[in-house]
Parts: sequence; structure tokens; C-alpha cells
Amino acid sequence: MKKNNSKPLAPYKILLIIALIFLQFFDVEAIWAGVVQTGVCPQPRNTRNVPKKFRKLKNPLKATPENIASGKNLFHILVKPTPCKNCHGVTGDGMGLMSWALAPLPRNFSCKETMQKISEGQMFGVIKNGARGSSCLPNRGLKDEQIWQLIIYIQELAK
Ligand code: HEC
Repeated sequence: MKKNNSKPLAPYKILLIIALIFLQFFDVEAIWAGVVQTGVCPQPRNTRNVPKKFRKLKNPLKATPENIASGKNLFHILVKPTPCKNCHGVTGDGMGLMSWALAPLPRNFSCKETMQKISEGQMFGVIKNGARGSSCLPNRGLKDEQIWQLIIYIQELAK
């Protein structure tokens, strides 16, 4: 005999389930990027300078389509524990999914005015060791080559 003592789902739960099923067909991050407007530009920047040994570095790689593609892949997918886009945003505007919880806000890579003040060597140091006093995480597991590819991709975002 079938027991008939199960309660029907509350309407809000049904709506939630439908919403979740629906969301799978969309790129949630792209929707988020559409809801949250682009980051401020020029952006206030309090990041400390990284040590001189990093600051004087120059990118040994060229902005070839392959290097841009590798940087893009790292930025959006490969970097652990959480890809750069979750903070810096799919478009690089600094308004990623996690940005609402962060102070200072992630750097707005799409802002030329702010980005032209940041040297390649400074970026290298921040990506490798993180930015002290902020949530920008260190990435000690990345090879130097991968860091330079990320920088090439970031420079593409500012164009
Ligand atoms: C948990 C959030 C978070 C993640 C993940 C993250 N960042 Fe950041 N990033 C920040 C914040 C916040 C700042 C701003 C730091 C500040 O103003 O001091 C920042 C700043 C930067 C800067 C600018 C440094 C400067 O001197 O102005 C660069 C470059 C950068 N991040 C690159 C990356 C790259 C590449 C990745 C992925 C490998 C990454 N970040 C992952 C939060 C994050």
C-alpha cells in the first residue's frame, strides 16, 4: 500500500527548483556581469609596490594568439582554488561574483586609466605572491610562463 503522508512541496521551493533548472541553460556569470554595472574608472588604488626584483621584470612572451588563449583559460577556468574571474569579473571590470564581499574591490582591468599605471613587473609580483592587505591570492603553483600569459590576457582586457 502506498503511504500518503508526504507533504506537498512549499510553493517557494517549487519556484526555487524551477529557477535552478532554468539557470543551468544560462551563463550565470554573464547574467551577473549584466546586472552589476561595470566597475569604477579611474579606480582608487592602494596596492603596495611589490619588491624591486619583481618590479624590474619585463614580459619575455609576445601577445600571440596562443599566449592570449592560454592566459584566458587560466583566468577563467584553470587557476585554483578559484579562478581570477570570480573576483576580477568575466569582462575584467573587477565586479566578479565574489567582489561584493571584498574591500578593497578587485582591480578593474578594463579601466585603461588605472591599468596604465601598473607595470608588468608589479603585476607579476602580485599574481605570484598576492597583494598584501587584500584578498588577491598568491599563486605559488603557477609557472612563470603562466603568470606572463595571464598578464598578456589582462592587457588585452584593458584594450
Ligand atoms: C579572492 C579575490 C581575488 C582573486 C581570486 C584574484 N584577485 Fe587579483 N585582486 C583582488 C583584489 C581585491 C585586488 C585589489 C588589491 C588592492 O587594491 O590592494 C586585486 C588586484 C590585482 C591586480 C592589481 C595589482 C596592483 O598593483 O594594482 C592584479 C594584476 C591581479 N589582482 C591579478 C589577479 C590574477 C591574474 C588572478 C588570478 C590568478 C587574481 N588576481 C585573482 C582580488 C582577487
